[in-house]
Amino acid sequence: MIAILIAVTGKGGTGKTLVSAMLVLHLCKKGSLLAVDADPDSNLPEAFGVEVERTLGDIREIFQSSRDEIKGDKEIWFEAKIFEVVKELDNFDLLVMGRPEGEGCYCYTNNILRAILKKFMRHYDFVVVDCEAGLEHFSRKTIAGVNYLIVVSDTSRKGLRTAERISELMEELNINARKGLIGNKVIDKRSENLIREFAENSGFKFLGSLPYDEKVVECEMMGKSVVDLMKTNCSFVREFEKIVKNLESWVVLCQS
Ligand SMILES: Nc1ncnc2c1ncn2[C@@H]1O[C@H](COP(=O)(O)OP(=O)(O)OP(=O)(O)O)[C@@H](O)[C@H]1O
Ligand SMILES: [Mg+2]
Repeated sequence: MIAILIAVTGKGGTGKTLVSAMLVLHLCKKGSLLAVDADPDSNLPEAFGVEVERTLGDIREIFQSSRDEIKGDKEIWFEAKIFEVVKELDNFDLLVMGRPEGEGCYCYTNNILRAILKKFMRHYDFVVVDCEAGLEHFSRKTIAGVNYLIVVSDTSRKGLRTAERISELMEELNINARKGLIGNKVIDKRSENLIREFAENSGFKFLGSLPYDEKVVECEMMGKSVVDLMKTNCSFVREFEKIVKNLESWVVLCQS
């Protein structure tokens, strides 16, 4: 089985984590799903209202510092450890990448890790990755094998500029993923049109836009999870359903 790997990226604070969490809650109804928090400043678990004690970064550090003492097949050791840190929730699994690498050369460790992650992800129908802001993952090729890359942008020029840079970098690095764009925190038709136009002129599939919604702010302030937000059926939640439909038909179109 080959998972459909969707990475959610974009400028800082545009709503990547919220969009990732919402996507997870929708797509897990369609098949088995692994949610990956690839932001060292991890907050995807919080969006689901759960806590994660151990991360993949912790395991990477153990491996890095004691790999010579690990007996037997190192890949098998690593694989077993991944199963230990994956958190099984009711409808999907959650993996937190955790802290960045320490000092020293991680080439050997990262090569093994990348190969194992690739193998591990094949257990799922969908993998949704909440990326950290910026372009770090692309330059380090952490998210190799991504099929769909969704950039979340607010209506700022900076948000769209980041989308543009991501697009350029993907080309440079030969990352062969389909590109989609979601506008978030949109306040009027004019800014929605601006984002749509940008998408159409820059080779992105425009997946739709989400309004700035006080309900989202309120839920966040009260420490409520995205599951709670979904229950409010506010305009953000309703518009998100349209995005999921657009995403589904886009994926079906691309896969066929
Ligand atoms: N449509 C919206 N309406 C109102 N507030 C929103 C909306 N989308 C996101 N927010 C708020 O904006 C803030 C940033 O959202 P989020 O954490 O999802 O962004 P991010 O891109 O993951 O940020 P970071 O780059 O720090 O990881 C949060 O407080 C979130 O509640
Ligand atoms: Mg985030």
